[in-house]
Amino acid sequence: MKIDRVKPYQILDSRGNPTIAVEITANNISASAMVPSGASTGKHEALELRDGGKDYSGKGVLKALSNILSIYSQLKPIDILNQTKIDKAMITLDGTSNKSNLGANAILALSMAVARLSSKSKNMPLFSYLGRIYEVKQTNILPTPMLNVLNGGTHTDWQGPDIQEFMIVPFAAHTFTQAIQWSSEIYHTLKKLLKNRGYSTLVGDEGGFAPNLKTNEEAVQLLIDAISNAGYNKKVGIAIDAAASAFYDQKENLYNLRKENKKFSTKEMISFWEDMINKYPQILSLEDGLAEDDWDGWVGLTQRLGNRIQIVGDDLLVTNPERIKKAIKLKACNALLVKLNQIGTLTETFEAIKICKKAGWNNIISHRSGETEDTFIADLSVGTCCDQIKTGAPARSERVAKYNRLLKIEEELAEMGLSPQYAGNAAFSRS
Ligand code: PGA
Ligand code: ZN
Repeated sequence: MKIDRVKPYQILDSRGNPTIAVEITANNISASAMVPSGASTGKHEALELRDGGKDYSGKGVLKALSNILSIYSQLKPIDILNQTKIDKAMITLDGTSNKSNLGANAILALSMAVARLSSKSKNMPLFSYLGRIYEVKQTNILPTPMLNVLNGGTHTDWQGPDIQEFMIVPFAAHTFTQAIQWSSEIYHTLKKLLKNRGYSTLVGDEGGFAPNLKTNEEAVQLLIDAISNAGYNKKVGIAIDAAASAFYDQKENLYNLRKENKKFSTKEMISFWEDMINKYPQILSLEDGLAEDDWDGWVGLTQRLGNRIQIVGDDLLVTNPERIKKAIKLKACNALLVKLNQIGTLTETFEAIKICKKAGWNNIISHRSGETEDTFIADLSVGTCCDQIKTGAPARSERVAKYNRLLKIEEELAEMGLSPQYAGNAAFSRS
C-alpha cells in the first residue's frame, strides 16, 4: 500500500499559533494528523521548524509544509504498513541528530498520519493497530489520567505559581469513566473554592485555573481542599510538574521562585521537594523538579525521594533514547514523560518507551501546552499499554478531546469483548 496523495496545510493550535496538519491518501482511503507544540520546550528536543520573518511573528510552518512534499517524493515507493521503514527513511533523509534539516514537526505529521491510515486500511481502531506494531499482547488497559487543574509558570505568563502544573490523579476509581467523573467534580469544586477565597477563575494554557496565589504550596493546599470537599479524600492523589528549567537561572546557578522571593541551590531545591512530600503524602509524582542539565541534582533527588514517589523526566529526557539510557545508568529518575514531537517519529517513541519499560520505569504519555483536536495520544496510551496519560484539565476542547476519546475506547473495548481495565493505582507500581 503506497501513498498516492499528500496534502499538508497550516492550521492553528490551541494558543493561536500556526502548526502542521497533513492529510494522506492511499487506495482511496484518507487519514490526517495534526502536530502539537510546547511552550516550556526542553533545550534538547528535536527541532520544530518555523519560518521566521514577519508573518505570524516568525512562527509560520510553510517551510515545513514544503518539506513534507519533498519527503513524500522519497517515501512514495515504501509500503505504509511498514511504519519502521517509513520512519527510518525520514530519519535518514533528514540526516541530523535533532531533525533540524527537515523539521521534527514535518516528519512527525507524516509518521502519525501513516499509522492512522494503516489502521484504517486494516479496519482496526488506531489503538489496536498501534498495539500490533508496538508488539504488545493486550490493548485493553485505560491509563490513569493526571489532570492539570491549576496552571502556573510559562503557561500563565507567570501570573500563576512558579510551578507549572498541579494535577489530580484519580487512582482509586474503578473505571476510566468514573475517573473522569471524579476529576470533573473536583475541577468544579476547585473553581468554587477559588471564587470563595477571592481568586480569579480564569484558566491557563492547559485549561487549569491560573490564580495569582501567594505561594506555590498554597496551590497544593487548594487541591487537597478541593479533593476533600468533593468527597474523594484518599482516592485521588496529586502530581506536580515543576518545569524547573523555566525558573532555573543559569548565570546564578540558582532556582528562582519569584512568587516566594526565594532563590535555591540544587541542594535547597531538593530539600524544598522533600519537605513538600513529607507534608503532603498525597503527592505521588514529581516531574522536572530540577533543570534539564542538572544531572547530579537529579541523581540526588532520585536517591532521596525515588523510593517514595515517581520521579519523572520531561525536559531532562526529551523522549530521546540516548538521554534515557544515560538517565537509567545514572539512576537519575524512574519515569519518562512521552512526547511524540520531542523526538519526531513514532518508531523512536516506541523505542524510548520500550527502553524504560525494560528498566522497570513508568511511562506517561503526554500532550503539549499548544494542542490541537487530534486525539492520537489517547490511542497511543492504550496501544503501548502505558498506564498513565497527562492531557490537561477536564475542560477546553483540545484537552477534553483526548479524555473523550478514551471514554469512547473504554466503550469500544467492551463492545469488542475485550473487558476494559482501568490502570488505577497499579500505574504507579514499578516492576
Ligand atoms: P509544554 O509543557 O508543552 O509547554 O512543554 C508541558 C510539560 O512541560 O509537560
Ligand atoms: Zn513537563
